Amino acid sequence: MSLNEIDKALVMRRAAALPRYTSYPTANHFKPTVGPGDYRNWLAGLADDAALSLYVHIPFCNEMCWYCACSTKATRRYDPVARYLDTLEAEIATVSGLVPRGHRLPHLHWGGGSPDILSVADITRLGGALKASFHLDADTEFAVEIDPRLMTADKADAFVGIGVNRISIGVQDFDPAVQAAIGRMQSYEVSKASLDLFRDRGVTSVNMDLVYGLPHQTEQSLTRTIARVIELSPDRIAIFGYAHLPQRAHNQKLIDEAALPGPMERFAMARRLTTQLTKTGYVQLGLDHFARREDSLATKPLNRNFQGYTTDGAETLIGLGASAIGKLPQGYVQNAVAVGDYANRVGQNGLATTRGWTLTPDDRLRAFVIERLMCDFTFSFAAIAANFGEAEAHALLREADALVVNDPDGFLKSTDDGFELTPRGRPFVRNICARFDAYLNPVAGGAKHSMSV
Ligand SMILES: C[S@@+](CC[C@H](N)C(=O)[O-])C[C@H]1O[C@@H](n2cnc3c(N)ncnc32)[C@H](O)[C@@H]1O
Ligand code: SF4
Repeated sequence: MSLNEIDKALVMRRAAALPRYTSYPTANHFKPTVGPGDYRNWLAGLADDAALSLYVHIPFCNEMCWYCACSTKATRRYDPVARYLDTLEAEIATVSGLVPRGHRLPHLHWGGGSPDILSVADITRLGGALKASFHLDADTEFAVEIDPRLMTADKADAFVGIGVNRISIGVQDFDPAVQAAIGRMQSYEVSKASLDLFRDRGVTSVNMDLVYGLPHQTEQSLTRTIARVIELSPDRIAIFGYAHLPQRAHNQKLIDEAALPGPMERFAMARRLTTQLTKTGYVQLGLDHFARREDSLATKPLNRNFQGYTTDGAETLIGLGASAIGKLPQGYVQNAVAVGDYANRVGQNGLATTRGWTLTPDDRLRAFVIERLMCDFTFSFAAIAANFGEAEAHALLREADALVVNDPDGFLKSTDDGFELTPRGRPFVRNICARFDAYLNPVAGGAKHSMSV
């Protein structure tokens, strides 16, 4: 499906380096003025029956993939991982002593890095520590990110044994030429084997991660990869646009920039993969997720947090581990990024908060608008008024009206109480969100954010 001249002009005009809005304000604005004292006070202020969502970060991989922008490092030895688990247990002990006793735990997510780098004994140990400290039960959605190259049957037994009921498998692309250009060799068989390990043990909820915009990827090669993914029939598929930020992720300097598809090719790939997946029964959700029609991601209200799109609507997200971010009603907290710094801080203080953000009333309003745009592609006066009051909603409605009036590219369509993005505008949702972002610095943005298409 080639792009016509109008599409090309549009992409050239609107492709820009913009945030992915997994939070508002985005994490690059967090300040060191928020520390462990604030975190303790914020946790103490939670309602006794607060619903918590728990994120545990495992910042280790066997080797670094060249494209990776995650907070992780390669280790061939296991002792740094074992030491890290000691620190995690200490942080779990501190945080669980601060959260309300009557809390509920609808969501638990282990991400990374690669949580399946943990040994069988340590998977069980970490699962046991969390169960002893937080109220996990049979209803808890317990998801783990999996690097298929690290999986074994014993590890699958251990994950299922501690209650894992959802997995997310890293695939990226099946094309050998693309794999060679991103430093990640992983056959179809290896991906399928890890999927089978979990399905054989009763885990029925499977996500697969893919990336478009990788070096040497073409529309045709991506179509072949997606056809093979469809054969494996995952319940959810996340297809992220490649974020190339070599100034921040130094491993990306290994990527041959001359082989990267440009904005036009990326746009065409995104359009084609969307058609391919929606034709085979997947529903498109938000910017880059797809799910089977009956999957909860497609049937429940969609939310967005640091892990991307989720059904998780908990107001409080507790982040455990190096670099982990938490969200509380009062604001955001982030742990020290470097593993050594994280361990020292937990050793001294029990917590490792190094920076964060205290939300203002205006931040809450804009965060709500941006999250709804990213999830539903709509701006609704009624929804804002219901959450924040009519006066606040009116102030933002003026900004929304100005956008609709000055909409040269036909991205927006007026509705009874606001606007919605047109099919033409949807791929550019980050551009629209950026118009509600009071902190975005268009000059500094280029080095910090990925391309909006
Ligand atoms: C923590 S990893 C997934 C689990 C496991 N480590 C693996 O790679 O199989 C999270 C996902 O982020 C995505 N990702 C990493 N770096 C990216 C980048 N620079 N741009 C877009 N997506 C990226 C990949 O799809 C990856 O699967
Ligand atoms: S993509 Fe996954 S396996 Fe590769 S370096 Fe990043 S976190 Fe590790």
